[in-house]
This record gives sequence, C-alpha cells and structure tokens, in this order.
Amino acid sequence: MMINLKIFRYNPETRTAGKLVDYAAEISPGMSVLAVLHKIHDEQDGTLSYRYSCRGAICGTCAIMINGKARLACKTQIADIIEEAETITLEPLANMKVIKDLVVDKRPFWQAISETHPWLIRKTEMPDERITYESLLSKSELDELNRASDCIKCASCFADCPKIAEAADFIGPAISIQIYKQLFDPRDTNTNERLGYSAAPTGVSACDKHANCVKACPKDCRPLRAITFIKNKITLTT
Ligand code: SF4
Ligand code: SF4
Ligand code: FES
Repeated sequence: MMINLKIFRYNPETRTAGKLVDYAAEISPGMSVLAVLHKIHDEQDGTLSYRYSCRGAICGTCAIMINGKARLACKTQIADIIEEAETITLEPLANMKVIKDLVVDKRPFWQAISETHPWLIRKTEMPDERITYESLLSKSELDELNRASDCIKCASCFADCPKIAEAADFIGPAISIQIYKQLFDPRDTNTNERLGYSAAPTGVSACDKHANCVKACPKDCRPLRAITFIKNKITLTT
C-alpha cells in the first residue's frame, strides 16, 4: 500500500525557512513511523535527519510530532494513524528549537531536569537500621514510584503542553515528574529544596490542567497526577 507523507525539512546551512515536503512510500504490514523514515532515508533522500536509538520505546530519542501530536516514531504504527488524515504529517517536537529536519535541540530540557537534582538525596541516617528502605513503601506506593521512574525523558509531554508554548519557563510536566519521584520517595530528605523549586511562580501552580501531557506520555507516567501531588504538598507545608 502506498501512503503520502509531509515531512518537515530544514537545513540550517541554507538559511531558508523550514517547510513541509511531500513524500510517498510503499508500506507493508507492521511498519512503524520510524521504519517509514528509514525507508525514505535509504531509498529517497539520505540527507533526511531524525533521531532514534533503541527502536523499542525505551530511549526516548525518536519523539516527533505525528499528525500534530507528540509521539514516539518507533512505537507508533502506521496502521494506527493512517485513518487520522489523508496525508501523514511528520514534524519536529514542538516547543523546542529545530536543529535540522526532525532533530531538535534538547539541551534546555536536559538542563532544566538537571537543575531539579533528580537523584536521591539523603542527609541523615535511617532512623532504625532494622527498617529496610523498601519496607517504607506499600505495594501501591511502590507501583506509583515505579510509574514515575518509567519516564524515558522523551519530552512528548513537554512538546504537547500548551502552557509551555505560552510561557517557556513554566516548569512543565516532565520536570514535575522528576521532582515528584524524589518527593514521593521516603528515603529522600531534600523536600524543602524540591518544594521551593516547584512553588516558584513558574512552578506547578501555573499548570492549566489541560492534561495533554497525560495523553502524550508513551509510558503512562501521568504527569498531571505528579503536578497535583506537588501542589498538595506545597499547600500542606505552607
Ligand atoms: S496539565 Fe499542565 S503540564 Fe500537563 S499539558 Fe496541561 S498545562 Fe501542561
Ligand atoms: S513523562 Fe512521559 S511524555 Fe513526559 S518525558 Fe517522561 S516519558 Fe516522555
Ligand atoms: S528509538 Fe528509542 S524510544 Fe524510539
């Protein structure tokens, strides 16, 4: 079966604005969007640039806008999106600067995550060494922590968040997930710093609860739940 695509092309060396370019490709059953990109790259235009690594929805590098929604190219089956529009549109992630074609500059995103110190910080000894760290969490709490830990930092939620489009310094869903993960972990004692970071005017209170982030997340991390948890925790401590 033949499908039509529009793919965003931008070459920083020519200094001309990026634009959607028409392509057609023969697809076979079971092909992902990433497989179609490979096919076009290999058979039609070797200059087409896009990112990928694991091809198994684990590394988070292949996220792009597919028919206007942020999704993982390796996880998105052509068969599942073919009905959405006559022509499949592939664009770089929104809310990020384009480097070339479908490749965006994720450095500000990584920097923002790094500033939240998204690792376990414990400044005191555990009160009773007979209590193991694991025993501090119930099964459901552990499931919740694992859900947040599943974040692959693909930035799909970031790209689909209308609030970030409006105000680039809004903390956003992906950063909130990182803070939530540590706040939720009873071993972490860096609570005040984490809440202070989240309580800034550009923090969780600026969230408009669109829930686009929840729909965009390929790992079911539920970022809005994380934002609500942080908001409640701020309220309880002030
Ligand atoms: S719920 Fe908040 S973080 Fe999620 S998309 Fe909406 S504004 Fe962005
Ligand atoms: S919360 Fe989900 S959508 Fe957002 S960066 Fe993590 S895995 Fe990607
Ligand atoms: S290539 Fe790793 S998530 Fe798609």
